[in-house]
Amino acid sequence: LLSLPPVELGLKYFEMYPADKDPIWTNPCDYNRHLSIWPENKTCDKLPSFIVVGPQKTGTTALYSFLSQHPDIVSNLPTPKHFEEIQFFNTNNYYLGLDWYMDFFPQPDKPNTTLLFEKSANYFESDLAPKRVAALLPRAKIIVILMNPAKRAYSWYQHMRNHNDPTALNHTFYEVVSASDMASQNLRALHNRCLTPGLYAQHLVRWLDFFPAKQIHLVDSDELRNDPVNVMHLIQKFLHVQNYMDYSQHLRYDPAKGFFCQVLSNKQNKCLGKSKGHKYPSMDHRSEQHLHSFYRKHNINLSKLLSSFETQLPEWLTTELKDIE
Ligand code: A3P
Repeated sequence: LLSLPPVELGLKYFEMYPADKDPIWTNPCDYNRHLSIWPENKTCDKLPSFIVVGPQKTGTTALYSFLSQHPDIVSNLPTPKHFEEIQFFNTNNYYLGLDWYMDFFPQPDKPNTTLLFEKSANYFESDLAPKRVAALLPRAKIIVILMNPAKRAYSWYQHMRNHNDPTALNHTFYEVVSASDMASQNLRALHNRCLTPGLYAQHLVRWLDFFPAKQIHLVDSDELRNDPVNVMHLIQKFLHVQNYMDYSQHLRYDPAKGFFCQVLSNKQNKCLGKSKGHKYPSMDHRSEQHLHSFYRKHNINLSKLLSSFETQLPEWLTTELKDIE
């Protein structure tokens, strides 16, 4: 019988099976063999039962803050780099391991009724995230917010300008969305990052490869903006929260902000910060037309996908496709 010392044996193994170099974390508590060597001071209670996966600019921060108002729904602790977002499943943070991830979650006082969650808005369009989430959290529920992808792209462009992205500052929205293969590398990169998250059907299908449709809940971003109380009602039903909260007592439209905010007292509301829900000029007609054609086949695919799951189409999607029988 031939063997090698542990380190050499490890190196030999990865030389023979290079694909195994990329780790895939599973839940140690789901396997008896793993559980038996899992140290006693560790727990499996510090893992989320649901994830808001995005995409960016659809109202994910508003939803995160509304969810966090519920006494039995507890978010991750803030991260130094991305504020409330852990960005574990879609970035190299994944290689920092399971302990690194679990350390972002508090130990719940009532593990049987508390629902831990995280929101990382770039998971939605990540190639890797669905497979990695499913490996670690196969029973997790997934929440996706869908906004008219053209509006989403425009809000994202404004967000990049607010963050002083030089390419966004130097180019009009139309130049960004219509950039061709001949455009500079920076402009092409911005173009892709602006438009790719809006290819909803393509991304949803990837999540559906790993999660049954009943584990995925779609939120219409217009409804989140205009009727968050009903959105929170439907989410609580989807999550089977034991302690139902009537959000009509906790959310109120704030005329100065132009959005729903958390009720603090008779006169006082707590709204999201200046970077969320800010004012900018309406989208120009040429960009609107361009994006209408750009997203057309993707929106048709989305409509077919949602119909196949007997899911009601968001109003913006019906409007976008109203000229189709
Ligand atoms: P704008 O800032 O372009 O208006 P995200 O948190 O996913 O980045 O999304 C930000 C968007 O959430 C904002 O885009 C805003 O339109 C939308 N939104 C929805 N409900 C909101 C609320 N109650 N308060 C602030 N923004 C809200």
